[in-house]
Amino acid sequence: MSAPRVILVGPMGVGKSTVGELVAERLGCAYRDTDGDIVAEQGRTIADIFVDEGEPAFRSIEKQAVHRALAGYDGVLALGGGAILDADTRALLAGQPVVYLSMDVEEAVKRTGLNTARPLLAVNPRRQWRELMDARRHLYTEVATAVVATDGRTPEEVAQAVLDAL
Ligand code: S3P
Repeated sequence: MSAPRVILVGPMGVGKSTVGELVAERLGCAYRDTDGDIVAEQGRTIADIFVDEGEPAFRSIEKQAVHRALAGYDGVLALGGGAILDADTRALLAGQPVVYLSMDVEEAVKRTGLNTARPLLAVNPRRQWRELMDARRHLYTEVATAVVATDGRTPEEVAQAVLDAL
């Protein structure tokens, strides 16, 4: 039997890593995420890359990391929340098993609060979340073969829903 493969997409803070690790544990396979790949490769945090070089440079580093990961992974792979902004990346995801973990804006504000470690939410989290979700919701939906809503659900319940969707 070939190794299971699933890609998780969705906004930051939705629980991709927590859920991804649970799904990997239940499938008996590896978990990997592209933010982790970038931090390991660059030897600095994502926030530092944003501060040092700005968002466009981060997106270029991210695109390379995502394309490398998509070229050879087994198990559960989580993509950074903004990876789907890139059209080439969305094209590469076509035909792959992609699960979109969704949440509404109020849930996002509640979960991430005033977390300034996330560079995209540093000024006005509620407004920035609304803009982010409005700009990206359709892109997550476009690449997804399944959508799992996470609002009000525990990570275990979300992981089960992901497994059910595979
Ligand atoms: C980002 C999401 C983050 C990280 C960076 C930008 C985004 O990843 O890549 O802060 O644009 O949504 P997570 O979704 O893993 O938090």
